[in-house]
Amino acid sequence: MPWMVTAHIVFILMWSAGLLGLIYMLAAHHDEHDPQQTEFYRVIERRLYFHLATPAAALSVLTGLWLLFSRGFEGGWLPVKLVLVSLMVAAHAYSGKLFTHFWQGKRRHGVRFYQFYNLLQTLMISTIFYLVVAKSF
Ligand code: HEM
Repeated sequence: MPWMVTAHIVFILMWSAGLLGLIYMLAAHHDEHDPQQTEFYRVIERRLYFHLATPAAALSVLTGLWLLFSRGFEGGWLPVKLVLVSLMVAAHAYSGKLFTHFWQGKRRHGVRFYQFYNLLQTLMISTIFYLVVAKSF
């Protein structure tokens, strides 16, 4: 089913771009005080999270489940992948919390935190890709 795998990968790219882009932007305007500029960032981040990352996450999971039930539950890499996907869903929820807290004025984290968090998200996404592409166990 190449078209379904393609759709799955495209939705994952959109989901990953939304998650990484949101955190990148929070770090980029962390010290911005101009009200017009900050409002611009807030609108873009809201769109990244609610209009891109969230629907793409739902479609990634739906296409993933479709692939799972059409090919069968084979390979040790699959349960490991599903654990990591759960972690990605948790990261999605946590990113939403970071965004909401930031705009409520509860700014508990510095730029370094956002950079480190994005590094962890990148490692998590890369590991999932490696598992699925290598299927080595
Ligand atoms: C509930 C969520 C998900 C489920 C159930 C799922 C399941 C699957 C299944 C069954 C396949 C077909 C594997 C095959 O036999 O070739 C697949 C392909 C793939 N998945 Fe997922 N997936 C999910 C989420 C994700 C996520 C979050 C990522 C990456 C961050 C991802 C990356 C990929 C990639 C790159 C492929 C294509 C692999 C290839 O054809 O070589 N998936 N997925």
